Order: sequence, then structure tokens, then C-alpha cells
Amino acid sequence: MADHDDASPNPYDRIAPRRALRPRLGVTRLKIQLTDEQELIRRTVREFAEKEVAPKAAAWDKDKTFPAEVVPKMAALGLMGMPFPQELGGAGTDMVSYCIAIEELARADASVAVTMSVNNSLYSWPLYTFGDEEQHKKWLTPHLKGEKLGAYGLSEPGAGSDVAAMKTRAEKKGDSYVLNGQKSWITNGGHADSYVVFAKTDPEKKHRGISAFLLAKDTPGFTCGKPEDKLGIRASSTTTLHFDNVEVPEDQRIGDEGIGFKIAMQTLDGGRLGIASQATGIAQAAFDHALSYAKERKQFGQAIGRFQAIQGKLADMAMKLEASRMLTYRACDLRDRKEPHSKEAAMAKLYASEAAMSITREAVQVYGGNGYMSEFPLERYMRDAKITEIYEGTSEIQRIVIARRLLDL
Ligand code: CAA
Repeated sequence: MADHDDASPNPYDRIAPRRALRPRLGVTRLKIQLTDEQELIRRTVREFAEKEVAPKAAAWDKDKTFPAEVVPKMAALGLMGMPFPQELGGAGTDMVSYCIAIEELARADASVAVTMSVNNSLYSWPLYTFGDEEQHKKWLTPHLKGEKLGAYGLSEPGAGSDVAAMKTRAEKKGDSYVLNGQKSWITNGGHADSYVVFAKTDPEKKHRGISAFLLAKDTPGFTCGKPEDKLGIRASSTTTLHFDNVEVPEDQRIGDEGIGFKIAMQTLDGGRLGIASQATGIAQAAFDHALSYAKERKQFGQAIGRFQAIQGKLADMAMKLEASRMLTYRACDLRDRKEPHSKEAAMAKLYASEAAMSITREAVQVYGGNGYMSEFPLERYMRDAKITEIYEGTSEIQRIVIARRLLDL
């Protein structure tokens, strides 16, 4: 901690020394202990989340308040562009650190965690990886610094799991494209300044005829629907996107024409690690509550934690939490080393989201009647956990991704 660079223009240096920002887990293949720097990031984000986020989470959930007020604060900590080079305005961390930060935010509020993760992994990553220098300057750096917020427009009413079935059309007209169509369930919709949007440039070619575009919120013909009313992550904004003859200059296309499907899939390989961490954070919060309650709550003359029925639940919850983390860190390490990781990311997301559902349900059970009351946060954790089994690829899709890699299909 001694080598913090307080004078650095990069705010992230204030919470972690520069040498922390290089991927390290690959150095010793089986080292699964976090580095001091990664632990420091955990402590710093936890402290921030407990102070700035957790006290407001219940009210934001109740009123469906988008947590806009914490975005600049997360930006000041370098959280809005974590695993990206410092030269571009990012914090230069590895993926494990990024996932630790998401977990700690989700432990306080899953909506805040997904707001941050979509800007990092769904908006910024494809742009960083496939965009050019000019696009980086104009569209990426302000997002990595957290001055602007991003969103990702892939799903459509008739194209959720089946991405290639999308109908949004981008027709080439001179030096521009004209976009028409609709997107559904878009996180950060309405609050984002910029959107990565996928559209068919050549419908005949099916998945090979999809391209990715950048779109600013105030582009004529581009509108967002009203915020959806949801079971969980109610403070996160989810809207439809509508394109009515939206003119998009050619220099706002990301990468070559026709590579949009691959961009989308590779982006989701990383995004799924963020969702695995979000699930782990929600589950950790539920477990922390259940553990304390088991020590305090007395029935039949003793703390309920003295009963084997409750002990069994706590043991299973703790084991699932650890397994979720290990699968996630392992996939993060592979991604940092640019090794294939689609299967491992799918495993992490699948396992952690199902574990979160089971852990939050059991935590409600440990709390009994109180667990069902909105006076306590347990029911919110259970509602929030459900989405992690759905977005960025349902559990069913994760099983397909895993099985296809196993069978080489
Ligand atoms: N990386 C690179 N390329 C990939 C890839 C990957 N991870 N996965 C597939 N591809 C390639 C294949 O190699 C294949 O290449 P060729 O063109 O050379 O043949 C091509 O893409 C097509 O692959 P498939 O035949 O496997 O495609 P498919 O149509 O059968 O779909 C799928 C595969 C796994 C089901 C995929 O459609 C999928 O992941 N669906 C789920 C979509 C999803 O996760 N949506 C979430 C939306 S975002 C969200 O939730 C955002 C939010 O707001 C939080």
C-alpha cells in the first residue's frame, strides 16, 4: 500500500498501486490465493458499497430509482472502466479485480452492480477490442472515465436466446446506414449516453450478416421506451430501444461488416463473468444475514444455529459461495491470458446464478416469517438473484454452450 500514487490523474491509483493492475494469476498456474492488491480492491469497494450504496438499496428498490447519484462516485474510484488500459482512461486492472468489485457492489445492491458491469463489459469491451483509434477517443474514453454511461442493444422481442433471429435492419445508403427495428430488455436503457447496437446488414447471411454500431442517445429517430416494471433489480433501468430511420455514419460501425455475431458472443463471454460475480455478491449478502440470524434468533430455548437443520443449510450455502468464486476466478484468469474461456465463463455464470437462487431462497427460509417481509432485505436478495439465471444467456443457453464445447459441436 506504500506505493499509492496520490498525484496520478488516474483515480484508480488512489486505491491500488500500479503494480496491482497487471494480470498476475497466470504467473503460477495453480495459485488461487488473491494478491494483496486484489484484496485491497475488495476492501476498498466493500467500504464504498457499505457506505454509499447499501443504506439506500431498499429505497431505490421500492421506488425503482435509478442509482445515478453513485455513478460519478464509482467513476472517481475507477470502477467504470476497470479492465482497460490506463492510457485510454481505464484503471488497467485484471478481470479478477473487476469481478471482485462487481461482487462487492452486488453485495450492497445488485442494480448498482449491473449498471457498472454493463458499462464495462457489454459497452466498453467490444468497442475497445474491435473499435479503431478514433472511436476509442470519442466513444470509449469518456465511458472508461465514467463521464458517460453505456448500454448494449442485442436482444429483441423475437430474438432473445436465438440472437441470429434478430430483425433490426441496417441498410447501407451512401456513407451511412439506416437503422429500423426494436430492441428489448436493455439494461441502462434511457440513462445511457451511448449504445452498442447490433443489426442485420445482410439478412440473407443469417448470423454472418450481423454488424455492430455505435449510437448516441440523441440521434434523430432513436428513442427508448419507458422503464420496465420488474421482479428484481428494480433500481436498474430496463427499456426497449426503437429505431425509426436512424441514420448512422459508416464510421460508427464497430469492426467489419458481418462480424457482429462474433463480437456479440465474445463480449458475452466476458459479460457472463460479471453476472457470475453479481450472483455471488447477492448470495454473499444473503448468507451474511442468514449466518448472523442463526446466531441471534432463539427458538426452543437456543439459537437456531444450534439445530442441525440450520447448520446443514449454512454449510451448503458457504460451499456454493466458494465454488462460485473459484469457477469465476478460473475463467477470469483464462480471459486475461487470452485463452479460450467460453465454456469456463458459461460454467461460472451457470453455477453462480443457480447457487445464488438456492442460497437466497435458503436464507429467506432461515429467516422464516421475517425473511418474507420487505422490512428485511432477504426477499429482495431472492428477487434480485433470479435475473442472474436469465440475462446474458439463460441457464439453458449456458448448458448448450458448455455441452457444445465438450462435444466439439
Ligand atoms: N466466441 C466467438 N465466436 C463464437 C462464439 C464465441 N463465444 N460462440 C459462437 N461463435 C461463432 C461460432 O464459431 C460460429 O462461427 P461460424 O460463423 O464461423 O460458423 C458462429 O458464431 C455461430 O455459432 P453457433 O452456430 O453456435 O450459433 P447459434 O445461433 O447456434 O447460437 C448460442 C449460439 C450459444 C445459442 C448464442 O446465440 C447465445 O449465446 N445466445 C444467448 C444470447 C444471450 O446471451 N443474450 C443475452 C443478451 S445481452 C443481455 O442480457 C444484456 C443485459 O442488458 C444485461
